[in-house]
Amino acid sequence: MLGFTIPSLSTLKLNVAVLSLSSSHSSAIKMWFASKDMVISLAILFLVLLTPCSTAFWNTQNKIKTAVYLSPKIEVGPGSVSNKFYYDIEFPRGHVAIKGFNAEVVDEAGNPVPLHQTYLHHWILVRYYESKSKLSTNTRHDLHRVVHMSDSFSNSHIITRNSGICQGNTLGQYFGLGSETRGTNTDIPDPFGIEIGNPAEVPEGYEEKWLFNIHAIDTRGVEDKLGCTECRCDLYNVTVNEYGTPLSPSYEGGLKCCYDQTQCRLRKGFQGPKRSLYLRYTVKWIDWDEYRTRLPLQKGGYVVYGVAHQHSGGIGSTLYGQDGRVICTSLPIYGSGDEAGNESGYIVGMTTCYPKPGSVKIIDGEKLTLESNYSSTTRSHTGVMGLFYLLVAEQIPHELCN
Ligand SMILES: *[C@@H]1O[C@H](CO)[C@@H](O)[C@H](O)[C@H]1NC(C)=O
Ligand SMILES: *[C@@H]1O[C@H](CO)[C@@H](O)[C@H](O)[C@H]1NC(C)=O
Ligand SMILES: *[C@@H]1O[C@H](CO)[C@@H](O)[C@H](O)[C@H]1NC(C)=O
Repeated sequence: MLGFTIPSLSTLKLNVAVLSLSSSHSSAIKMWFASKDMVISLAILFLVLLTPCSTAFWNTQNKIKTAVYLSPKIEVGPGSVSNKFYYDIEFPRGHVAIKGFNAEVVDEAGNPVPLHQTYLHHWILVRYYESKSKLSTNTRHDLHRVVHMSDSFSNSHIITRNSGICQGNTLGQYFGLGSETRGTNTDIPDPFGIEIGNPAEVPEGYEEKWLFNIHAIDTRGVEDKLGCTECRCDLYNVTVNEYGTPLSPSYEGGLKCCYDQTQCRLRKGFQGPKRSLYLRYTVKWIDWDEYRTRLPLQKGGYVVYGVAHQHSGGIGSTLYGQDGRVICTSLPIYGSGDEAGNESGYIVGMTTCYPKPGSVKIIDGEKLTLESNYSSTTRSHTGVMGLFYLLVAEQIPHELCN
């Protein structure tokens, strides 16, 4: 079972809707829905159920694009801290679905820099809209401002936060890790992706951009590497925060003591060269046209049509409302002969739902649950799918409401 919430996105006004879902074998499932006078919204709700040793049926591998970028130069010296913001960084443009994001610190020759030389405290990738009429002002920002964006930034910029449970200005990033970056897989499994660059979502007069906050600590030659990475105030000789406000004596260590340009204590007599580093980041994505897995649906409405998609082994699928009511059940029809359209062992049809207009309503933002049952009595299955198509009308024509 999968629970999800109807996203609040833009409404489609369609006379003919085309859903195109392509698989790795580049076969396409296409559905056309024609309507006359109704404003129709359309949603595809789906999940993919995978058994432990499966390979995903919905394989996007051959469509994934990869780009490797370098952040602006990060200048450090033994014991020094760099905690900077980099605006308008290079990033895939256009309407795409992000499939993965990885990063690592490299030197000028492109060689990976080990953590015991440069500790990557954190990096955060933030999506924002920038006003086209205002020049971006790359004033100094600190982590505090990313976590709680400053007024000067928010006047000409809109942070496009993730849709997680931390609302407001807290933890709005799309990706962000620290020292564990190299060993942490960020790939987003098929058939999912993070939609970005949808021109319909960018406010008028703004453009979508991305910023990095990168906090790195050069620990070459320091007296206490662990202490420096933990930002112990005594090692940084810091008693006031970066705005000059005295820190409480009980504040022994943390971000307030290793802000940009602070210096961790070196071993006596240690001399080492300055160096230029970069955060090398790899973005994987799929063009949205190749990846039409979801059509935006701003509002709930009246269900006009529903059908599930399953693979062989499927025994039925039901979409439930938040209160547990059945919105639509769609059952597979297996063939039992040999001829086309009646092939034994194959699902040759699915039952559909055509509720009496106005009788089945989905509320705005309602949390739905999709159940897609498979039987493993004859054999186990891999890469099974559970799609659900829904046609939802915002309004029902009067003549149908009787
Ligand atoms: C630590 O900071 C104080 C006050 O700013 C300064 O007087 C002192 O010289 C610093 N000590 C070291 C070792 O840098
Ligand atoms: C799916 O399986 C559950 C658990 O056996 C059952 O309650 C439900 O009715 C089934 N739904 C469909 C559509 O087969
Ligand atoms: C499918 O083929 C079987 C066996 O020939 C036959 O009994 C059945 O009626 C066929 N079903 C349809 C829908 O044609």
